[in-house]
Amino acid sequence: MKILVTGAAGFVGYHLTQRLLEQDFTVVGIDNENDYYDPKLKEGRLEELKGKSGFTYYKMDLSDTASINELFEKHSFHTVINLAAQAGVRYSLQNPRAYIDSNIVGFTNILEGCRHFDVKHLIYASSSSVYGANTKMPFSEHDNVSHPVSLYAATKKSNELMAHTYSHLYGIPTTGLRFFTVYGPWGRPDMAYYSFTKDIIEGKPIKVFNHGKMKRDFTYIDDIVEGIVRLTDKIPQPNAEWNRHAADPGSSYAPYKIYNIGNNQPVELMKFINTLEELIGKKANMEYLPMQSGDVEATFADISDLQEAVGFNPSTPIEVGLEKFVKWYKSYYKVDIKA
Ligand SMILES: NC(=O)c1ccc[n+]([C@@H]2O[C@H](COP(=O)([O-])OP(=O)(O)OC[C@H]3O[C@@H](n4cnc5c(N)ncnc54)[C@H](O)[C@@H]3O)[C@@H](O)[C@H]2O)c1
Repeated sequence: MKILVTGAAGFVGYHLTQRLLEQDFTVVGIDNENDYYDPKLKEGRLEELKGKSGFTYYKMDLSDTASINELFEKHSFHTVINLAAQAGVRYSLQNPRAYIDSNIVGFTNILEGCRHFDVKHLIYASSSSVYGANTKMPFSEHDNVSHPVSLYAATKKSNELMAHTYSHLYGIPTTGLRFFTVYGPWGRPDMAYYSFTKDIIEGKPIKVFNHGKMKRDFTYIDDIVEGIVRLTDKIPQPNAEWNRHAADPGSSYAPYKIYNIGNNQPVELMKFINTLEELIGKKANMEYLPMQSGDVEATFADISDLQEAVGFNPSTPIEVGLEKFVKWYKSYYKVDIKA
């Protein structure tokens, strides 16, 4: 079975590709290797993947319609897993157009490829950020999410709407995955856990927003990968019980499904920082700041649908996941501090 993984040089795409190759899938990976964060990390991830049996890689931009079309024509993909996107909430305040190019124009090219080249299942990354201004916890796929608080979130919600249209019009089975704060080795330097680690090691102050009063469903990368791999076989079917008079946002009369993938045990930001301090072996110098615009105070995933569909519950504790991250970080950057 041939699978297209977009964003294969990215954090989630790299780990997912490794795992799919271990399971003997044939994987075609694409990425534009942009410099939103240090491209050396992307090169490093690709170094680990290139040359592995079953893996083909193309440097390609999602928004390049002709190249994406050729790619779909050349390879008959059974499944497409779209992880390539302009990620990050804060950067969407500085460079909104990057989100439109990759997440809207790029995603349209993926949908068109699936439509014209008979793809059997499209899985795509959405985000917990679509819950936006909602405060009812835990966040459920069956809640309405029409109040995004960043353009990033709005593009992810748009992807869900666009996917529904293609499921309805062309019968393409689509699965949208709302990831909750993913962390782990080979992670993303723009995310707080990564920059906190760097700053604690370098003795620089760390910016603790909302005075530390934040809770996150920190989700270890292996749990995200496990969820995606299990859902690969779970091709959505039309929901016969879907009721037009009480439209459930999480499924449809069309072959369309949305899942949360999160740890389901939100952790206080301060506990997260304390765990990092212990693992690094150094105290943080904290600078308390107010809430940032576009950010949300808490994220907490209801994962009962995921559990019911594939019998899996992301549950790696932060002590275990962060230990693996800090170990990788110290070895990658050759840091010599004994915890
Ligand atoms: N990591 C998280 O906590 C998190 C949380 C929620 C959602 N997500 C979503 O999961 C997906 C994967 O995220 P990640 O953490 O691996 O991010 P990442 O930035 O590490 O990976 C995305 C990859 O896509 C590539 N890319 C971006 N625009 C592209 C384009 N136009 N054409 C081709 N390649 C392009 C980038 O170069 C990058 O390598 C993204 O869609 C992201 O929005 C991630």
